[in-house]
Amino acid sequence: MTEDNPILVYKDVAKIYKGGNVAVEHINLTIHKGDFVCLIGTSGSGKTTTMRMINRMLEPTSGEILFNGEDIHTSDPVTLRRHIGYVIQNIGLMPHMTIYENITLVPKLLKWPDDKRREKAEELIKLVELPKEFLDRYPSELSGGQQQRVGVIRALAANQDLILMDEPFGALDPITRESLQELVKNLQEKLGKTVVFVTHDMDEALKLATKIVVMDGGHIIQDASPEEILRHPANQFVEELIGAERLIQARADVTTVDQIMLKNPVSITPGRSLGEAIRLMRKRRVDTLLVTDDEGYLKGFIDVESLDNNYSRATSVSDILNTKIFYVASDTLLRDTVDRILKRGLKYVPVVDKAGKLLGIVTRAALVDMVYDTIWGDNGDGGDDDNDDTSQPATDDVTGVAAGHNLATDTPTDHKEA
Ligand SMILES: Nc1ncnc2c1ncn2[C@@H]1O[C@H](COP(=O)(O)OP(=O)(O)OP(=O)(O)O)[C@@H](O)[C@H]1O
Ligand SMILES: [Mg+2]
Repeated sequence: MTEDNPILVYKDVAKIYKGGNVAVEHINLTIHKGDFVCLIGTSGSGKTTTMRMINRMLEPTSGEILFNGEDIHTSDPVTLRRHIGYVIQNIGLMPHMTIYENITLVPKLLKWPDDKRREKAEELIKLVELPKEFLDRYPSELSGGQQQRVGVIRALAANQDLILMDEPFGALDPITRESLQELVKNLQEKLGKTVVFVTHDMDEALKLATKIVVMDGGHIIQDASPEEILRHPANQFVEELIGAERLIQARADVTTVDQIMLKNPVSITPGRSLGEAIRLMRKRRVDTLLVTDDEGYLKGFIDVESLDNNYSRATSVSDILNTKIFYVASDTLLRDTVDRILKRGLKYVPVVDKAGKLLGIVTRAALVDMVYDTIWGDNGDGGDDDNDDTSQPATDDVTGVAAGHNLATDTPTDHKEA
């Protein structure tokens, strides 16, 4: 199958119980091979129902589900389940069967020969970092986390393309849970499986998913990548599910500096005279100039302080050029930039491309704006540049050592008369 052929498609699917009790309705969803889909929502929102219709443990009341292009309604449930692995919350290992027997249950049903089953079981147990000897134990002789590892590999054992997992780690302690999340994510990527995973833990969804499906009251509220969900939650419900704090944190996790930097910072070339530098600073109301060569490569900066101290001795920008400048690449995550700005007490950080050409600057004020946008508005990722210097009093006095984060930009909205 190709990238364009989805592995699973829901077409206006509903499940309505007797008495008109709507479990889910208008479910439209397309899942591609290799996707890790997390269904997330409050209790009773319809996650399990949506999942169980895939392997015909539940039959839809209306609508259609296609698995590899075929209507599952027309396929035999037993055959269907051979292609679809399933991991349930309480692991579901058979207590009277050894780990080996548990793992190879489906392959046995599929009539794999003994040596092939043994080989598969040994390969899988190694993958989840359990000793081979565990194959001969019974589930009760394993810890909860170890049992859940076995549950995971059992779902992988029959080489099924699609794995369904309904809150598989809900009952585990946070540390075991985290290691199993990593395990599942690694296995899924390595083996190229498609996973549909139910959770009501947003942290878990953000960690695992390539696609998050948010459900509420039997409906899909949003269906998007984790990045998209974090940047543009569809409504207040999704926002609350994400949580305001995480929204700020996570936005810094996915946003790169070029998305919020101010373009066209005021700059000057090293050959210019100090008189020109002062005039430019006055005109643009800044107390720092970035210095670039004729091709635009960042060379350093000059500020009013060094101008004041050296005016009698120096003549050109290059004489007072300070080359100790801290900068970031345009694809740096905002999170890391925030970190540096705060740790180093910087007022701004120049942004350069891979070759070192100056592209823009990220100011403290722009960061503050981003955080405010995230909480109160949705002005888009670029933000409004004219808020550039509202977080601190601006100064008219370019000869003083001011709170000089206000490296103005050439954007028309930026020229602010304080
Ligand atoms: N057999 C049933 N008969 C009637 N209603 C049902 C039946 N099974 C489930 N429901 C209802 O369908 C709705 C969706 O249930 P579902 O189990 O899909 O929710 P869920 O999102 O998985 O919740 P949880 O997080 O608690 O597992 C709920 O309102 C539930 O009460
Ligand atoms: Mg459920």
